[in-house]
Amino acid sequence: MSDPLRDPAEFPRRLYVRTFGCQMNEYDSLRVQRLLAPLGYVTVDEIEDADVIFLNTCSVREKAEQKVHSFLGRLRRLKNRRPHLKIIAGGCVAQQLGEKLLSRFEHLDIVLGTRGIGSIARLLEEVLEGGPRVACLPEADPSLAPGEEAFAEGNISAPVTIMQGCNNYCTYCIVPYVRGPERSRPVGEILREIRSLEDSGVREILLLGQNVNSYGRGLKDRATFVDLLRLIARETGVQRVRFTTSHPKDLTEDLMLCFAELGVLCKHLHLPVQSGSDRILSAMNRCYTAGDYLGKIRRLRAICPEIALTSDVIVGFPGESEEDFTGTMDLLREVRFDNLFSFRYSDRPNTRASAFPDKVDPAIGTRRLVELQSFQAEITLEKNLAETGLFREVLVEGPSKASNGQMTGRTTQNRIVNFEAPEWTSGKIVTVKITGAYSHSLRGSVILGPSTRPGNPITP
Ligand code: SAH
Ligand code: SF4
Ligand code: F3S
Repeated sequence: MSDPLRDPAEFPRRLYVRTFGCQMNEYDSLRVQRLLAPLGYVTVDEIEDADVIFLNTCSVREKAEQKVHSFLGRLRRLKNRRPHLKIIAGGCVAQQLGEKLLSRFEHLDIVLGTRGIGSIARLLEEVLEGGPRVACLPEADPSLAPGEEAFAEGNISAPVTIMQGCNNYCTYCIVPYVRGPERSRPVGEILREIRSLEDSGVREILLLGQNVNSYGRGLKDRATFVDLLRLIARETGVQRVRFTTSHPKDLTEDLMLCFAELGVLCKHLHLPVQSGSDRILSAMNRCYTAGDYLGKIRRLRAICPEIALTSDVIVGFPGESEEDFTGTMDLLREVRFDNLFSFRYSDRPNTRASAFPDKVDPAIGTRRLVELQSFQAEITLEKNLAETGLFREVLVEGPSKASNGQMTGRTTQNRIVNFEAPEWTSGKIVTVKITGAYSHSLRGSVILGPSTRPGNPITP
């Protein structure tokens, strides 16, 4: 009898991918699918069916890391039932713990560091051939050859990593330790990847980096992030470009002007502020004051009044007083973000803040978080309600998961809209009249007729 794992011609090999953490990890998980496809792997939705499980892990907060440990723990039983199952852990917990993760979970076969994704096919083959369990944590990341980038088939919107790592060392953050120093990918490689995504039907790209504003430092091309945006607008045919994340200290006037000048650039900026207190911002090593931040927001809104703004906030940072917290609430009141991601501070290994005195009582941190989140929820809903009656251009991404027969897409400001439309509208920009608003999405009805975008006729 053929061995289901050694004979992909007769039995497809089934890959189950579970991703925790940020869009960087989403991108790497798409790469894993692409890298394993030549070995015959198809991605399945049910973990019970898997021959190989790839778990992409996150360690940005303690809770995220706990989720990974409990997920891995639960896989022990599955492996007992399916002894041929191979389990691979990648991402930031894998990078942080390396060999320790292998010894802690004896049913884990491969630990792959954040720069080890490119080796996945070789390592998996070796393990399938009876090789030992292995932790692979390379120091350097080779550039991505064609065919090694993320898997994009069927996607309308796709991520493209433009830089890895981070040099900012915000005192709370583990990312520089697990993702290494900042490295930018060469312009040519990025443009080539975008063109190949276009060929496979992608209409929108999301440029990824921990701090995209510093893109290009150390590159031979001498290109800046603004140069890269202009090149993408000029030399590729993608209809929409988004990017994340920007660091407020590096947000330049030039980049702000791109929102007014470049038609392909979506009118949305994610600009994490973290706190509204200068004392806390300084302890976080963020290198700007609340006043600097507000000044940049004012300027940006003057340049591009319709821009949507989202942000990240941490409450309960060591030493945060009620007054500091009030400063954060005041900033939220002043900016009125369209959406916000907020977290209670969590100690991370190696970070400077983990050694700071004056840790905030977790109960106080939680109380502040609840207060902040309910305040922001009102603003988010008010802003969504204000969309009612407006006509918005929506890039249709496909059938909506939630509601039957509906299609889903996003406005340039990044709001999700669900509406009735034929499936062939997928990948097109349509005009939608917004008819209803909820906390996380909008409802609308499509205005049939030629789209306002040239070269994008709304006909099948
Ligand atoms: N590079 C991005 C974000 C990286 S992590 C940036 O610079 O903004 C995403 C968010 O997680 C951060 O913006 C921060 O709000 C939050 N975060 C990071 N470390 C944290 C910690 N130790 N405790 C709580 N939240 C944290
Ligand atoms: Fe972490 Fe700061 Fe770097 Fe963002 S900029 S990844 S928060 S160290
Ligand atoms: Fe998490 Fe690593 Fe991203 S720690 S947030 S997966 S860079």
